[in-house]
Amino acid sequence: MTARSDAPAKAGDYPAILFKPLKVGALELPNRVLMAPLTRDRSLIDGTPHEMAITYYRQRASAGLIISEGTSTGPLAKGYIDVPGIYTDAHIAAWQAVTDAVHAAGGRIFCQLWHVGRVSHDSLLSEGEVPVAPSAIPGEITTFGATGVVDCTPPRALETDEIPHLIEEYRHATRCAMEAGFDGVEIHSANGYLLDQFIHAHTNERDDAYGGSEENRARLTVEVASAVADVIGADRVGVRLSPTGTFSDMRSDQETAFAHVIDGLGALGLAFLHFVERFPGIKLTDEEEAMIGRLRARWSGVYIANGDFDAARAAEAITSGHASAVAFGRIFLANPDLPERFRRGAPLNEPNPDTFYGGDHTGYIDYPFLD
Ligand code: PHB
Repeated sequence: MTARSDAPAKAGDYPAILFKPLKVGALELPNRVLMAPLTRDRSLIDGTPHEMAITYYRQRASAGLIISEGTSTGPLAKGYIDVPGIYTDAHIAAWQAVTDAVHAAGGRIFCQLWHVGRVSHDSLLSEGEVPVAPSAIPGEITTFGATGVVDCTPPRALETDEIPHLIEEYRHATRCAMEAGFDGVEIHSANGYLLDQFIHAHTNERDDAYGGSEENRARLTVEVASAVADVIGADRVGVRLSPTGTFSDMRSDQETAFAHVIDGLGALGLAFLHFVERFPGIKLTDEEEAMIGRLRARWSGVYIANGDFDAARAAEAITSGHASAVAFGRIFLANPDLPERFRRGAPLNEPNPDTFYGGDHTGYIDYPFLD
């Protein structure tokens, strides 16, 4: 069966489109079934990935592209217990074993660069530090600290003269990621974390060049992407946005600011733009759906869609021209051979939410393969 670009969207009718190769910046992907970034909270306390991560990512190497779990760019970037980092020699060495395993299994992997901003707790940071944010505005948000769920610590505002250092941290993390053998990086500018906090008016009351107008609020994401692209080439850099996301106390009311972000990124020639279109279980309003469509239409490069897709809806999104590829989260977590299951129309393992965050190998590297 061949996929036709004008074929009607019908469940299970043309999964072949998911296996059409796709050029993404410097990479040639063999399929369009990507693995979305997924927090797993199984790293060592200093941010060094646990050796189980080698098996976890190798098992999922048949993805067109793996985007790693969010990985801290520096000590103040961390917001959850046991998440990995990519800024020390120990981080590089441990990630090198992961990327080697993925490459040996025929896969490709980007490192997701993550700064959480105000979504953190002082117990996760160095002595005397508090979370940083565009403005000193606390959110109605909790995180996982050493003792379990805690309210996030009220943040302090970043000084204007700290911004160059912040951008330098992204550059450093990018160099570390490439030294560790990643194929590129994705900048996390979604889901209520630091860069997203800069974009939104209710979390950014700055009066410098990074706040106030929509152009100013869009500036940091574009500057970070530009700085990172200078280090490794724009064709190895992607950006993740969530314009309609309400996770971590965000709002879906910033279409103009996101338009500035997307137009600014568009001028850089990046490998891809990645949208979290919705969180699992969240239904967008018609207006939010329309906003996704309008913002997506501003981007002429590779567009990765994410948000509770199944094979049929992914094929439909690609066939219609909406998406170039689709990133799957929870179902990739539970199905290490997800592309092959889609190819065969095979049943899927159910993800177990009890083992998403933290714990041992259970629910991490023991989901069964088809054969
Ligand atoms: C989470 O750990 O809950 C998490 C992390 C990154 C995201 C979203 C959720 O982008």
